[in-house]
Amino acid sequence: MAKSPTHYVCQACGSCFPKWSGKCEGCHSWNSLVEEATVDSFKKKTTAKAQKIEFSSLEGISPPLPRLLTGIEEFDRVCGGGLVPGSVLLVGGDPGIGKSTLLLQVAAVISEKTSCAYISGEEAADQVRLRAKRLHIASSPVNLATTTHIGDILKSLHQGAQVAIIDSIQTMYVDALDAAPGSVSQVRASAHELIRFAKKYGVTILIVGHVTKEGVIAGPRVLEHMVDTVLYFEGERGHHFRILRSVKNRFGPTDEIGVFEMTDKGLQEVSNPSALFLPHRTEDVTGSCVFAGIEGTRPLLVEIQSLIAPSSLATPRRAVVGWDSGRLSMILAVLEARCGLLCGNRDVFLNVAGGLRISEPAADLAVAAALLSCIANTPLPKDAVFFGEIGLSGEIRPVSQQEARLKEASKLGFKTAFIPKPTKPFSMPELTLIPLAHVAELANYLDAKPKPQRAYGGQA
Ligand code: TYD
Ligand code: MG
Repeated sequence: MAKSPTHYVCQACGSCFPKWSGKCEGCHSWNSLVEEATVDSFKKKTTAKAQKIEFSSLEGISPPLPRLLTGIEEFDRVCGGGLVPGSVLLVGGDPGIGKSTLLLQVAAVISEKTSCAYISGEEAADQVRLRAKRLHIASSPVNLATTTHIGDILKSLHQGAQVAIIDSIQTMYVDALDAAPGSVSQVRASAHELIRFAKKYGVTILIVGHVTKEGVIAGPRVLEHMVDTVLYFEGERGHHFRILRSVKNRFGPTDEIGVFEMTDKGLQEVSNPSALFLPHRTEDVTGSCVFAGIEGTRPLLVEIQSLIAPSSLATPRRAVVGWDSGRLSMILAVLEARCGLLCGNRDVFLNVAGGLRISEPAADLAVAAALLSCIANTPLPKDAVFFGEIGLSGEIRPVSQQEARLKEASKLGFKTAFIPKPTKPFSMPELTLIPLAHVAELANYLDAKPKPQRAYGGQA
């Protein structure tokens, strides 16, 4: 039977089906199947006879990877120490977060060292020039082009570009496919062509990818496994701070972050982020606490704020910015069950200052401290930092890189640290260490007492 020239591709997960249906069997999303041509432009001719491959041992001396340093330190560190020739990086992020700005700035510094092409499929050349002028980089020798055709791009890159920036993959298309740019198969096919080119000619390609509202690049994670490095550019809209985070890196560590500030002259590096995320308060306030965290390889101190207020709602609000809401529920449940502190009919708000997102469980103790400070209506010591993971029985567990956290705290002038009870003797002369084994000890320290609760329905 002749193969059908079209098939149906789920735009959310990339699964293919011969027939249309309302629901994707792969990811169970509705109305996501779109008809696309099955022409597989990448099917290699398999007529060549198979050959025996040579196996080699793991031992051997490999030369260190050559790296191209951009000079933007925050960017280089997130990339694992510079760009590796022939590697492909994906820079994902919400529309408008600053991806084009960052990469244009990167292009400008690279172009001073080697040939660099910036290919925009989204903006007209004039728009890019205008931005370059605003960033004061208009005089740098970047090769600018505006096109969306992958074939044209690859042909032009042949002429000797060492680094190419493609902004964005969602606007690119290859001829062999009938599907619209931005569809899963076009995104995948375009990326595949670019990756093949990068590997064959040793060109470093940086691909911009918009994140969909579900938070994944181009719908499915199709691109993430294809490229060498995946960087996410994040930040809260209302804040100036932007975090470049590596989530996958074949040539370096992951979970590294670079901190930038969006100014009217583009993105500026922030080399001492702790100073930025710390409170600038003049008097003691309740519910504010400093967490000594680790982001990638770097210690980072951030302020965690909480507010507990009587609720007028039947189901009180739990609003979290910058942290996991499930984790907040867990901490509240632990405080309730293990310390008898009920927040059942009160609204709870939690905020990580500065627009940072924290995913470390080590922040548990800092969150609990902020909440307890609100409950007890007692400000926490201004010169104290907190870190530690809280278990369901209320026990406080040790976390990694204790020393680095404490050193950063001491460097920034903190005098006290509330830490998990160490398993072996441990000293840090610059700081007064307060080891805690259970969250109830912290509640006692702050003199947090159960408050009389209002019955549901609003009556005291
Ligand atoms: P942009 O790089 O276009 O975002 P993306 O490519 O991720 O869609 O960033 C656009 C935003 O950045 C826009 O809202 C304006 C702001 N911006 C500044 O605040 N300062 C600047 O110098 C530039 C160039 C942009
Ligand atoms: Mg853009």
